[in-house]
Amino acid sequence: MTTVGIDAVEIHTGKLRLDLAETFAPEMGDAPEKYTKGLGLHASSFPDTYEDIVTMGANAAHRLMKRKGLEPDDIGRIDVATESAFDHSKPVSTYIAGCLEQVFESDFHHANKGERKFACVAGTQSIDDAYNWIKAGRNRGRAALVIATDTALYARDDPGEATQGAGAVAMLIDEDPNLVELSTEQGYGSADETDFLKPQQQFPSVDGKRSVNVYLARMREALIDYERVGGKIHADDFRLGPFHTPFPGMVRKAAVLAYRHITRDTEIEEELAEEIGRQPRSEAFDSDEAYLEALSEYTDALKETERYQAWYGRTIDPTLTLSRHVGNWYTGSVHVARVSGLKALAEAGEDAVGERLLVGSYGSGAQAEIHVETVQEDWREEIEAIDIDERLESRYELTFEEYEDVHDAHNFDEESAVEEFTVPEAEFAFDGWGRMGERK
Ligand code: CAA
Repeated sequence: MTTVGIDAVEIHTGKLRLDLAETFAPEMGDAPEKYTKGLGLHASSFPDTYEDIVTMGANAAHRLMKRKGLEPDDIGRIDVATESAFDHSKPVSTYIAGCLEQVFESDFHHANKGERKFACVAGTQSIDDAYNWIKAGRNRGRAALVIATDTALYARDDPGEATQGAGAVAMLIDEDPNLVELSTEQGYGSADETDFLKPQQQFPSVDGKRSVNVYLARMREALIDYERVGGKIHADDFRLGPFHTPFPGMVRKAAVLAYRHITRDTEIEEELAEEIGRQPRSEAFDSDEAYLEALSEYTDALKETERYQAWYGRTIDPTLTLSRHVGNWYTGSVHVARVSGLKALAEAGEDAVGERLLVGSYGSGAQAEIHVETVQEDWREEIEAIDIDERLESRYELTFEEYEDVHDAHNFDEESAVEEFTVPEAEFAFDGWGRMGERK
């Protein structure tokens, strides 16, 4: 049976950096620890004036194709996942293909192109689409390019402002993948929600506190749904749990609920209940809030146990390292978490071949997806080929005034006359409509 999964990944970060503790917190009148400890974020990646979802996506895809020695003819499908799209008709993948055709001698006229939208879960949905296309035998030997690209910006003074970010993750989905194999089992939790919306507007309207509860409720539903097809999930079956990471503090909340769920009705739960002196309640509740409230005493105590902390440190914490320094990348976020976790294993010299990942994707509006991936033979070479650390280190450090100016520029403020902070080098750069993504 053909195995299908993610063969290789490339990451493009927005080229500016906003330090949350040093630069942002004092201007907001907040303690730096609100960001570094509470949200778990140190910095955001921010797009320079010549960067947008097209240029970032094209730069990541170009590097991926060059590194893998691919030509357009090797790619049968280009799917872009984004919640920052600017065109209601043409998919962003056509703009990105147009960029790439400037540097390859052949074109992508044969490739099926599309755009997926369901907030941050759309990147994973695009991978699912590519997987199904290959498994159905419709790919005629070609691979799929999935690009998750977003400028995750909020209005000034919105509570979400601290969680901003910008970047793109390009992934090659292929047969006999080098990095991870995808399994057929999935679980979904999906409901019509209005916690995070962008109807005809540049920046989202967000009910931040409610959005946290909706994330947790849909993720729990997805775990339950997964178990209907994939069987009981056990806490120690997985080496890593990359989850959608709008900010690491969100995953801290999701992880403890996930752990409570996957340890239920096991010996671990019995031992924990004895240690904590409490039993988790498991009856049905009228609302997400009632469920979380009822469970909070148990999960607060659970978080303090050595057993939970050891599991969290081994399974979840390594997936959050990159996110702490880049913020939320919406559709790219869970895919950054996967790279972050595997990078940590590579740096520790661990042999991860055959290890399983429990991947939790989430998009507001709202839908969660749980699926399982298995680490492949050549994972280490693929992870070590991603030069994300150097790219993060070379970002331009913004002052607060510069941040205000560049934020205005991305809000299409005509008064804003801010110049670019960095110089594009052998990359696609936005140079005005009609000349989008010109190679500089
Ligand atoms: N030291 C340590 N911790 C501190 C602190 C200090 N001095 N001051 C505050 N904190 C802690 C708080 O206790 C809190 O932690 P807990 O939630 O664990 O209690 C944390 O820092 C954040 O503080 P607040 O709750 O006061 O922060 P806020 O209300 O200003 O903003 C938010 C939080 C509402 C989530 C906001 O960041 C937001 O609106 N974000 C955008 C929406 C979002 O990301 N939602 C996540 C789920 S939806 C999703 O995942 C989709 C997506 O990508 C958007």
